[in-house]
Amino acid sequence: MNSTYINNTKQAEEALKQAEAKMNKRYRLGYHIMAPANWINDPNGLIQFKGEYHAFYQHHPYDENWGPMHWGHVKSKDLVHWEHCPIALAPGDACDLDGCFSGSAVDNNGELTLIYTGHHYIDQPNNIFFQNQNVAVSTDGIHFTKLAQNPVIAEPPTDSSQHFRDPKVWKHEDTWYMILGNSTKEDLPRVILYTSPDLRTWTYHGVLLQGDKNMGFMWECPDFFELNGKHIFMFSPQGIDAQGDKYNNLFQTGYYVGEYNYDSNEYQHGEFIELDNGHDFYAVQTFLDDQGRRIAIGWMDMWESDMPTKADGWSGALTIPRVITLGANNKLLMNPVEEMKLLRQSEHVLCQSSTICGSYLAEVEADLLEVKVVFDLTKSSADLVSLKLCGTGEEETVITYSILGQKLMLDCSISGKKTDGVRQTTLNAEGQLTLHVYLDRSSIEIFANEGEATMTSRIYLSEKLLGIELVSEGGEAIINELTYWKL
Ligand code: FRU
Repeated sequence: MNSTYINNTKQAEEALKQAEAKMNKRYRLGYHIMAPANWINDPNGLIQFKGEYHAFYQHHPYDENWGPMHWGHVKSKDLVHWEHCPIALAPGDACDLDGCFSGSAVDNNGELTLIYTGHHYIDQPNNIFFQNQNVAVSTDGIHFTKLAQNPVIAEPPTDSSQHFRDPKVWKHEDTWYMILGNSTKEDLPRVILYTSPDLRTWTYHGVLLQGDKNMGFMWECPDFFELNGKHIFMFSPQGIDAQGDKYNNLFQTGYYVGEYNYDSNEYQHGEFIELDNGHDFYAVQTFLDDQGRRIAIGWMDMWESDMPTKADGWSGALTIPRVITLGANNKLLMNPVEEMKLLRQSEHVLCQSSTICGSYLAEVEADLLEVKVVFDLTKSSADLVSLKLCGTGEEETVITYSILGQKLMLDCSISGKKTDGVRQTTLNAEGQLTLHVYLDRSSIEIFANEGEATMTSRIYLSEKLLGIELVSEGGEAIINELTYWKL
């Protein structure tokens, strides 16, 4: 094993221990993946290996701000209880001098193989860089050795911009396939394809898909997989302008549903759809587990957003794991993995069948909470129904559904998102609205109507959460269920 690399991971572990001791824990999450301290961004290398789930993440162990990227590492037997492992990759070798950027993991006959981007500055102040692709391997799933022959892909095709990163690798028949986020010299976003017999020697196969200027200038963190006979291309485009309710975050994460022809490398697809409509959801990656589930985890933050936890010595977290399925009209549905139920400490059924609710308040003192409410819209005369998560005083986070407008709205204006606190999206609730909500100390994840719409945002409550309130406007609301669980 390369000696610089061993030193760098040890040093990083030391730095983390010191940072952890100094950390202010007020906003630390209870059941989400975070680093022990300091900065994290994208999930990387999601995989089930030798029966355990592994998640890696972009990590700067020396600071609460982004910097030379390492790969942090956690593993779990059940997708909800995560154990920290030593840092898997540290930058500083010739192949990855200024960062080990995002990438993926595969199980190559019992060898856990990480494929990642090496980042190299040419002129750091002006953000001029080059990027290459590298491999590191492990048999115990904990300690990784970078290959001596790195980089395995030294440079992008000649018609390419400097953006050349985030390899997603999968096996089809006997061949390994890799897609990379890239763009042309004219800044048109695209994803390019390589193949390999052994994960070491890679051959360029051209462009799998190119977008026009409306689709931004660069597609980060591409993912490509089959679901119910369709091919899903999931990616995080940079540079798409906001349009009404759509694309309101700095960068987006979304997908196409389509058909891919492996022989001709042609991909036909439908429209671009955002995967989540909250404030903080980016760089999602998926993997297939041994139950055949396609599971997605995203970074639960957004570039350049206000991150109050920086003052506390940490920043960034990953979303809860979500199962992705294909719904009607070729739309993806996202729902929490079943295993989330393992976190339930106590169940509180507040109402079970047709209850009229003009306004209803339950006192709930908890900061880790799961809430499920089912509104019967056919019997409700209301125009608007809301679920409010209330603090001791004024502070509240409000989820509202407009029955007439068929819009779902999340308002965190007074729970930590002072500017730009509202997100909304179209949801055709067809008679029934189910809101399934996960609250952690500084996050909210909403799954509406079995994953037809999801909204994920970081919230920062200065007050204690003390109540769940149901409110209707313009008439009565009828609810069929209201349950919460302390987690
Ligand atoms: C996405 C991203 C990736 C890159 C990584 C760097 O959030 O910009 O494209 O590999 O983060 O940390």
